Amino acid sequence: MATETSNITDPDDMYRALKAKLSDVVPDAELFYKSRLAAQINRLKQERNAVILGHNYMEPALFHSIPDFVGDSLELSRKAAQTDKDIIVFCGVRFMAETAKILNPSKTVLIPSRRAGCSLAASITADDVRQLKAKYPGVPVVTYVNTYADVKAETDICCTSSNAVMVVNSLDSDKVIFLPDEYLARNVARETGKRIIFPTREPRADDELEFDMIGWHGRCEVHEKFTVEDIRNIRRDFPDVAILAHPECSPEVVAEADFSGSTTAMMKYVERTQAPRYLLLTECSMADNIAGANPDKEMLRLCSVRCPHMNEITLEDTLLALQKRQYVVDVPPDIRDRARLAVERMIAIGPVGKKD
Ligand code: 13P
Ligand code: SF4
Repeated sequence: MATETSNITDPDDMYRALKAKLSDVVPDAELFYKSRLAAQINRLKQERNAVILGHNYMEPALFHSIPDFVGDSLELSRKAAQTDKDIIVFCGVRFMAETAKILNPSKTVLIPSRRAGCSLAASITADDVRQLKAKYPGVPVVTYVNTYADVKAETDICCTSSNAVMVVNSLDSDKVIFLPDEYLARNVARETGKRIIFPTREPRADDELEFDMIGWHGRCEVHEKFTVEDIRNIRRDFPDVAILAHPECSPEVVAEADFSGSTTAMMKYVERTQAPRYLLLTECSMADNIAGANPDKEMLRLCSVRCPHMNEITLEDTLLALQKRQYVVDVPPDIRDRARLAVERMIAIGPVGKKD
């Protein structure tokens, strides 16, 4: 989604724009300070012919000020593929910036922090994928975009949370290897009616059981924290709450929620429905970002579950990224070319999953 504030270069205009959206969620002194940084970043961005892509989990003042485009992983991959700017600054985590580089080998891709990782991407290596392929020859490999480039390079096709079911259904195969998120895999298996096994956890099971899907044991350290008990407790106090869960939550949590979808699908759900109040079971900045854009909606806060990796991306570091052209994201050409095929196959599948 394109944003309105990304061209504001006057600090006072930026302050007014941020205050109009965020005065209920961010203290005034912080808005004032951040509006100066944001205006400076937008000026420099124009001078350097750069585009800023911001994931939906960015902190509210950043999310509502500097990105030219905000969105979920799939939308940002698409924007990265289409840009004609010389520099892409990725306000998100490393696997996302790598995807931008894979799609734009001739452009400079910058990420404002070197520490912005992801527990899912860290859960699997290219060698793990090669071993699975050797064990299940000929079975297509679907890899969640929350993986590093060398893992994508071993993959037939990527998916995101918004198109995972579509991607699995697009394969001309009864069996599929689906990596690395255990919960996303279980949720996709449930939706597609597939029987799933986890051979690294149950080493004998695949010899004995019928299965259609082979999963891995990666977990998102944020979404694995939400429980069915959380949902029941909230519903006891607020029976009319609409509960939205990201598909990286456990299948039990997703089953108890009213809606499950990608970060953008959840935002759109809040925008187009009229529940008395909403609870998001996902990274906590998103509720603030939605509240900023939809002041008429009441967003409940269960707790403060912030992704430590997304939290590494700040306005201060984004300004430094543009000033010093840091940190350059590079992917070796042999890995890049193979990974690109997997990402492009996904992009070719279609704009969004049915939940969008
Ligand atoms: P989305 O693709 O839904 O934005 O999810 C990315 C992510 O990292 C969720 O934790
Ligand atoms: Fe990775 Fe989870 Fe953070 Fe998303 S929220 S970047 S899946 S650790």
